[in-house]
Amino acid sequence: MLLPRPTSLLIGEGDFEVTRATRITAPAELSSAASWLQGALRPATGYPLETGPGGSIVLEWNPQLAPEGYTVDVSLTEVRVAGGGPAGVFYGCQSLVQLLPPQIYRRGRVLGVPWTVPVLQIEDAPRFAWRGAMLDVARHFMPKHDVLRFIDLMAMHRLNTLHLHLTDDQGWRVEIQRYPRLTEVGSWRRESQLGAASYSRGDSRPHGGFYTQDDLREIVAYATERSINVVPEIESPGHTQAAIAAYPELGLGREDTEPLGVWTRWGIDDNVINLEESTVEFFTNVLDEVLEIFPSPYIGVGGDECPKTGWRIDERTQQRKAELGLTTEDELQSWFIRRLDDHLSRRGRRLFGWDEILEGGLADGATVASWRGMAGAVAAAKAGHDVVSCPDNQVYLDYRQSDRSDEPIPVGTVLTIADVYRFEPVPAELTPEEATHVLGGQANIWTEHMDSPRTVDYFAFPRLCALAEALWLDGERDYDEFADRLDQHLARLDAFGVEYRRSSGPQPWQQRPGVTGRPVTPQQRTAYFDSLS
Ligand code: ACM
Repeated sequence: MLLPRPTSLLIGEGDFEVTRATRITAPAELSSAASWLQGALRPATGYPLETGPGGSIVLEWNPQLAPEGYTVDVSLTEVRVAGGGPAGVFYGCQSLVQLLPPQIYRRGRVLGVPWTVPVLQIEDAPRFAWRGAMLDVARHFMPKHDVLRFIDLMAMHRLNTLHLHLTDDQGWRVEIQRYPRLTEVGSWRRESQLGAASYSRGDSRPHGGFYTQDDLREIVAYATERSINVVPEIESPGHTQAAIAAYPELGLGREDTEPLGVWTRWGIDDNVINLEESTVEFFTNVLDEVLEIFPSPYIGVGGDECPKTGWRIDERTQQRKAELGLTTEDELQSWFIRRLDDHLSRRGRRLFGWDEILEGGLADGATVASWRGMAGAVAAAKAGHDVVSCPDNQVYLDYRQSDRSDEPIPVGTVLTIADVYRFEPVPAELTPEEATHVLGGQANIWTEHMDSPRTVDYFAFPRLCALAEALWLDGERDYDEFADRLDQHLARLDAFGVEYRRSSGPQPWQQRPGVTGRPVTPQQRTAYFDSLS
């Protein structure tokens, strides 16, 4: 019935009916949840659902519950939603909406549907505090409207962390007032590589877009009303070509013939920033503006896939390494990340970065996103760092959904709904004490090969539904039971308007005939990661 599945659900006899006369009652502190619920129920029912005393849908606190925990009690005459905190009450409301017929997710009035909720009792609380999705809005920009829609879909699945990958080699998507060229120059590229092969040609089509600071404040406010924290990520020291294109003084100065543009290829880019004091200052200034927009305790700085070749052959970087008393390039990266960490820590925030930030030593207090499998999660938790598990071979939603040849631009290993459902964020190698460092997990939606929100729908759903349950449910997971519930849940996604992948495979318009991907086997994947270290 519900997705994610609640801790316990007891069904009784009969139904509660939402009618034109139904009102919502909530204390002032829960007015945000009450107005969310009103907004969720009004369009399809066409009922006013006024808020005020004496209503038959009651929202309330229950201090005995965990902050994200909730109960829903439905009788023939009343619905009571109680939460341990605002998030709990909000999740209770989300579950209540799911208990109505799926047409409730339509945005216009639906006639002839009885708006009933079965009499029942739900008790529920999540297993993990970090239940996330990362959206890569750098490779392909996602318009603000679609980010807000994605937030609604996350909230429907009780996900609570949106990690926005805002900058990369192929685009800089956040307005920084101090450095206007970051978006003037860095927010668009001439064309994009069409496919995943080294020989894939360009599509001769400019791509771009960025969020103003006001857009991002709106996204944060919208997410906050839905109990979602937005974690911004500003990549460095690798994945920085768009920034270098805008401000060449950040680079290694290898572009003496012609200036570097925003990158039009996919993959790992050798053009990385230099390690001058002025570059540290540039990135800390950028972060200062980011901190003004995002209240998140966690601030992403990237740290992944920074090729060290450029630093190795650059005379000035070698001189800098000596000046700093460092001996390896890994230590140089570590030095840079520590500088960002110092800056963030002094401002009361915590650095969040990909598992490469462990190499060369990591500052206390940093949180590690383990993406190259679970090795980073094990190493980080054992070293006392908090961890967000997002292993590529379990939760990278850009990886192909089957081994069919008609999957659009297939990359990575096969990652089915069942594979995602079985995702276990806590590595078996950890002691119970070390395991407390695993905050949870997130799915990563890299968009090199997703050039529109429609394609993001195809790759994200329904696998994100499976992820949400893997991170929520504290107890045994039974895939067959989940699959039955997912079938019913798809009617909600249909009503909402999600172009998910059907079990029958991609629709003709979801395919990309003739565009080459880069599918790999699990053995090839392991060999690739081994070759990097
Ligand atoms: C990553 O996938 N490069 C974090």
